[in-house]
Amino acid sequence: MAPAFHFHFISMHYPWWYVPVLTAPMLIAFIAVIHVFVSHYAVGGGILLALENQFAVKTGDKDYRDYLHRHARFFVLLTVAFGAITGVGIWWTIALTSPLATEMLIRTFVFGWAIEWVFFIIEVTAAFIMYYQWTRLPEKTHIIITWIYALAAWISLVLITGITAFMLDSRGLIADWSETGNFWHAFFNIQFLPQTVARTGGALLLAALYVLLHAAWTFRNNNGGLLEKTVRRMSKPLIAGIVMVFAGVAWSFSLLPDATLLNIERTVFLTILFTLFAGLSVLVTLMIVFGPIFNPKSVNVGFAVSIFILSLTALSVAEFSREAVRKPWIVDRIVLGNQIYASEVTERQKTGFLTDTYFTKLPKDKLQLGGMVFMYHCNNCHAPDRGLSPAGLLVYGESKEKVKDKIRSLNVPVSSMPPWCGTENELDALADYLLSLRKI
Ligand code: HEC
Repeated sequence: MAPAFHFHFISMHYPWWYVPVLTAPMLIAFIAVIHVFVSHYAVGGGILLALENQFAVKTGDKDYRDYLHRHARFFVLLTVAFGAITGVGIWWTIALTSPLATEMLIRTFVFGWAIEWVFFIIEVTAAFIMYYQWTRLPEKTHIIITWIYALAAWISLVLITGITAFMLDSRGLIADWSETGNFWHAFFNIQFLPQTVARTGGALLLAALYVLLHAAWTFRNNNGGLLEKTVRRMSKPLIAGIVMVFAGVAWSFSLLPDATLLNIERTVFLTILFTLFAGLSVLVTLMIVFGPIFNPKSVNVGFAVSIFILSLTALSVAEFSREAVRKPWIVDRIVLGNQIYASEVTERQKTGFLTDTYFTKLPKDKLQLGGMVFMYHCNNCHAPDRGLSPAGLLVYGESKEKVKDKIRSLNVPVSSMPPWCGTENELDALADYLLSLRKI
């Protein structure tokens, strides 16, 4: 398909942003993980409320329907308020951390987000009608409203999954960096289907666990019968959710490029993350089978809190790994982790990584220049001295020549780093800066 438009060399017109110790991408990761806890519940909870409300009406179970009404209050409060705040938080941090990637994604998927926001408005409106009109609307109309909510919420999941899946793997879609700008790339990329399956499963699973938590707390002193009924009702979504998570994650994993797999196997941290995810998932599955499914009576606040925390940990680990395996790319094959387009690399190596622009007035002092090269070229993944993967310590004790050699072939042993994209002068300044950071 012909590209919708071409990009120009526009990177480096933005200031850098460094979050001390953590590095900026880690701040995104923290906010995103919290957002994911709530946004998956917003989707899965919508589906569960629609299904269960319909079931309660059909079976004429007034007590259960009253409980669902109470749950809807907790659900609407948490998802609408918290979901919106953390969602905006993600926009805020990604725009500051990776202005170039954010700009590229907006240009390409602007209609995706426009559609998404339309669905958010439908979602929020339907959520309020569902809760406030619970007892007033005719039952049939109320059921329709809950389904409108569920569908709108699920479509918003599909849209955003398409975009994050494209960021992870753009293979087969673009011959080179300039062929972006095609909205449909969000849906015809390799990772789209497996990730949609995994996320839909995760949404169901998480929502059912929120219901267990809420019900166990609500009925902690009385009404054990209603608690048991709720727990029994949750066993199907729990099973469906965990099966979809396993299938989606395995499918997604089997499609990873060889280079990514090599990276995972070679990196201790990633190996630990993947093992942790597998271990936690098995543990959660066993707890579901021996708790809600075989012993629904045994589910209490303690059980609900434990399985909830374990699942949130597994989810965080999965999200972290998805972000980590994407390195050195912010957007696969298009934007690199040092905030330039892949196509700019050769040019930059010749003319210099830093350009004298409004935000980057090049300093005369060599150490300051080295510091600025670091902030633009390395600060997305390394703290300088103290904090996450501190580059000054990674080269500690090495000779200047050795450090320069390492940086010259930055992406060679460690393929999760971008290639070195500067001149000899910038390299010299960077090496001096790194070696000045920690003297013992
Ligand atoms: C896109 C992310 C990313 C960027 C940008 C990046 N690195 Fe790295 N770097 C990594 C990863 C991942 C590792 C693996 C080691 C670790 O952190 O545990 C690494 C490892 C290193 C190491 C240790 C490797 C060794 O062979 O000893 C050094 C030194 C290093 N980076 C320096 C730099 C410098 C200098 C820059 C900027 C010019 C830079 N990195 C830019 C991700 C990055």
